[in-house]
Amino acid sequence: MNIPIKTADEIEKMREAGRQAASVLEMITPHVVAGISTGEVDRLCHEYIVDELGSTPAPLNYHGFPKATCTSINHVVCHGIPDFAKKLKNGDIMNLDITVKTADGYHGDSSMMFVVGDSIQGGRLARITQECLYKSIAQVRPGVRLSELARTIQQHAEDNGYSVVRDFCGHGIGTGFHEDPQFLHYDGYEPSADAELAEGMCFTIEPMINVGDYRTKVLRDGWTAVTKDKSLSAQWEHTLLVTATGVEVLTARGDEDMSFLEG
Ligand code: MF3
Ligand code: CO
Ligand code: CO
Repeated sequence: MNIPIKTADEIEKMREAGRQAASVLEMITPHVVAGISTGEVDRLCHEYIVDELGSTPAPLNYHGFPKATCTSINHVVCHGIPDFAKKLKNGDIMNLDITVKTADGYHGDSSMMFVVGDSIQGGRLARITQECLYKSIAQVRPGVRLSELARTIQQHAEDNGYSVVRDFCGHGIGTGFHEDPQFLHYDGYEPSADAELAEGMCFTIEPMINVGDYRTKVLRDGWTAVTKDKSLSAQWEHTLLVTATGVEVLTARGDEDMSFLEG
């Protein structure tokens, strides 16, 4: 495992990439309402990334992925493919995952949940999943091991009766979309994979939490990952920088209350 340590200059470029990814989610939020299709959500994000930000959407053509963003509704865990025929309806929950690659080659990766209209079960799942993300981010600082963050996520999910997806993970990020280390969100680390965080590392935390069983399968389109038991699934993701004293959330949005980082 070779975990890159970013230089001051690279960190500035990561900050810009992170801000850009956050700005896409801020831009699209008012558009995500019942009746819009996931294809239209994707089109608006794609246009904004290219025309307003001067960057590229990293998912497009990534290992053959056909669209600019991932839109994962209800029992879709991740990597849902945007589709003009798939309209959001009242009670749906959707994860929208945005990765931008800036003109100088750095990636910012973030995703969030949208609860369309009302869904009591979906709203609770989305909230607990965001808490899993925030509780683990709050622990990030040099010297902490990945497994400590993972245990925090797993504990909070399971305390609330949910399960943690094992088949997809967080990752280092920089000029590469997916760099070392792999970040498992559950306590399943081989000793050699249980990296210790150090100042200058950038990585994502992106827990996928299911109402039912943790197992997933990929549909015949080769991308869409769903829960095997068809139970609801939620995910939130941020790109992080490990600082000397803690963490900087590179993809923080204006709507977020980051006070969990204090104290
Ligand atoms: N953005 C996803 C992640 O968090 C990866 C999407 S890969 C794609 O790592 F090909 F599906 F777009
Ligand atoms: Co990611
Ligand atoms: Co992502």
